[in-house]
Amino acid sequence: MILSDFKLERYFNKHEFTAKYLLSSSDCDGFSMNYILEQATADELSLWENLHLGYTESAGHPLLLEAISRHYKTNVSKKMVVATPGELNYITMNVLLKKDDHAVVVSPSYQSLYEVIKTIGCDISYWKPNDNNWTFNSADLRQLITSKTKVIVINFPHNPTGSYLSKSELEEIITIARENNCYLFSDEMYHKLMVSDAEELPAVCDLYEKGISLWGTSKSFGLAGLRTGWIAAQDEKLIEKIIAFKDYLSICNSAPAEILTIIALNHIDAFLKPNIEKIKKNILLFKEFQEKHKNLFPNFIPPKAGSTSFVPLNDEGSALEFSDQLVENTGIMTVPSEMFEYSGNYLRIGFGRENFQEILNVLDTYLTKK
Ligand SMILES: Cc1ncc(COP(=O)(O)O)c(C=O)c1O
Repeated sequence: MILSDFKLERYFNKHEFTAKYLLSSSDCDGFSMNYILEQATADELSLWENLHLGYTESAGHPLLLEAISRHYKTNVSKKMVVATPGELNYITMNVLLKKDDHAVVVSPSYQSLYEVIKTIGCDISYWKPNDNNWTFNSADLRQLITSKTKVIVINFPHNPTGSYLSKSELEEIITIARENNCYLFSDEMYHKLMVSDAEELPAVCDLYEKGISLWGTSKSFGLAGLRTGWIAAQDEKLIEKIIAFKDYLSICNSAPAEILTIIALNHIDAFLKPNIEKIKKNILLFKEFQEKHKNLFPNFIPPKAGSTSFVPLNDEGSALEFSDQLVENTGIMTVPSEMFEYSGNYLRIGFGRENFQEILNVLDTYLTKK
C-alpha cells in the first residue's frame, strides 16, 4: 500500500516551525502545562504526580473513558477507543472497507479523510458545497450514493470552510445513511467550537446506530501536543476491531497524555471558552481587514463553527504562488487551496492565534507596498 504525500502536512512541515507567523493554523494556541495543572482537582493532581510510565490499557485509561463518556448522551462506556486522531481514521477505514467498496467524502477536506480510503482501493465520490456560501446540500449527497456505498464521511464544523449543519440537515444525512445501510463517519475534531449563533449539533454516535464520532484535544481544547483523540460509537464490535488493529500501531496511549486529557475533559470550559472568545475576536478583525483589501479578498464567509475559513483569493497567480511569496517576503505562512486538492484559488485562514492582529498588520504593510 502506497499512501500519497499528505500535501497539507508536508506544507506545514516545510514552514510551521520556521515561519515567523502562522495565519492558517486550524488549532488554537496550545495551553501550557502549568495552565492545565492549575485546573486540576486534588485527586487529578495526585493521578499526575503518582503516575508510573508503564504500558497503558489498549482502549484507554478507565478514568479517561469515563471522562469521555460524560460528553456523550448514549451509554458509550464500552464503546470508545483512544488513540491519535489520524490513527483512528486510518484504522477505522481499514476495518470498515475493502477494495471496490464505495465511499462518499465531503470535499474540500483534510486529506487523510479520503486518502486512506483511496489507498484501500475504494471508489470515492466527493460531496461538494455551494461555493457561494459553503452550504452542503443533502440532495447532492443522495445523488452520490450507490449500491456499493459503505461509508459516508462528514466533518462538521468543517475544515477548511467553517461550514456547519442545522440539526435537521444532520438528521437528513442520517436518514440517507440509514436507508442505504451505510456507516456515517463523523470527524468532529472541532466539536463545540461554536463561534456564531448556530445551534450546537449532537455527536453523530448519539443519533445513529452506525454513527462513528471522532473527537480529540487538538482543536476544541488547544492541546494538539497531547496527540489524543477518541472514537465513540454504538457498535461495540466495531470498537473491538479498532482496538485489535491498534495493537499493530501505537498499542496503547501515552500515559502522561491520558492524565492531562482527563483533566482537560473534566474542566472543558477552561479550555473551550478562551478559544471561542479568541476565534470570535479574530473573525471580526479579519472582516475589517478584508473590507480594506477587497481587491485581493473579494468575499469572506465567516465560520459558523470551528476555527477556519476558506477565503477566495483574487490574485494573478495561483494560491500556492501567493502563499510561497508571502512566506518568503514576510514570514507569514498561509495554506493555499492546492493543499486541499480543491479547484479555485483560496487561502485557509485560521482564527485561533493570539497574535492574529499583529499578523494582519504585517500582511497589511506587505499588500500596501505590493
Ligand atoms: C478535520 C480534521 N480531522 C483530523 C485532524 C487530525 O487531528 P490531529 O492533528 O490532532 O491529528 C485534523 C487536523 O488538522 C483535522 O482538521
